[in-house]
Amino acid sequence: MEPSEEFVFKHKGFYFQPDLVTPEYIDSLEDFEIRDSDVFIVTYPKSGTVWTQNILSLIYHEGHRDGTENMEIKYRVPWLEYNINNMDYVHRPSPRLFTTHLPYYLVPRDLRNRRAKVIYVARNPKDVAVSYFHFSKLSVILETIPDFNIFLERFLAGKVASSSWLDHVRGWSTHREEFNILFLTYEEMKKDLKGAVLKICKFLGKQLNEKELDTVVENATFDKMKTDPRANYDSMKSNLQERGKGHFLRKGIIGDWKNTMTVAQSERFDNVFKEKMKDLSSTFSWDIN
Ligand code: A3P
Repeated sequence: MEPSEEFVFKHKGFYFQPDLVTPEYIDSLEDFEIRDSDVFIVTYPKSGTVWTQNILSLIYHEGHRDGTENMEIKYRVPWLEYNINNMDYVHRPSPRLFTTHLPYYLVPRDLRNRRAKVIYVARNPKDVAVSYFHFSKLSVILETIPDFNIFLERFLAGKVASSSWLDHVRGWSTHREEFNILFLTYEEMKKDLKGAVLKICKFLGKQLNEKELDTVVENATFDKMKTDPRANYDSMKSNLQERGKGHFLRKGIIGDWKNTMTVAQSERFDNVFKEKMKDLSSTFSWDIN
């Protein structure tokens, strides 16, 4: 079953959301001027994007103490391709932090100069699929597919917004040499948040003292973000998400797929993905089961 044109359009082999972006804008991004100090978070949806946005925001804004106290992360680390708040990206002061779901081949050409930084975060695709399934019931700009079996087939075929998980992760992984890139997994962030924050700081050349580091870690936990209106995307409810149906920060755990997928569905997933994921093992170490 093809995805509904009401919710996605395909441009250069990738599914975008018509409410958020036009093909012309995507094309224009190829010439988007990159500064050496720019930092890009790159993810496939539901892989820990908002979490990483918050971490970066906290690292750079040192725990909300520099006049950005009430600014939501969507303004501090805005989406490159989905500039829904019409921000003036060209004149933003450095260092500019951006977020994107773009595949490696559609990002600004200058990112390949290997000076600006890219942080790629990936998550066990089974958890991604389940999180995506729940999120599409919540978001008014995603097609709701109430039957998980049908959603799963769409996900495995890459017929969802942002296309195939496998193509996305593999594309960025195999083209890693072209970028100044740090790979992280949701799982390692979850198991050792402080370690992940330190890794990010090292990559960014940021030295935080122990107290600053603790502030970042404290404010980036799931429980803390859940109650932080700057970081939990609850404000999306006014336009992109329906009121009362749930929260963007849903469970925030590893392995929740086991609560949704049947054994047969998990096997189906393995049949389509597991073999193809083998070449990713040098970049990511998951046991997806
Ligand atoms: P679940 O739906 O499994 O709970 P994205 O930001 O890429 O859309 O990813 C959203 C997923 O990341 C959601 O997963 C959300 O709960 C989880 N998440 C967000 N902040 C988190 C945090 N601080 N710790 C753990 N998981 C977090």
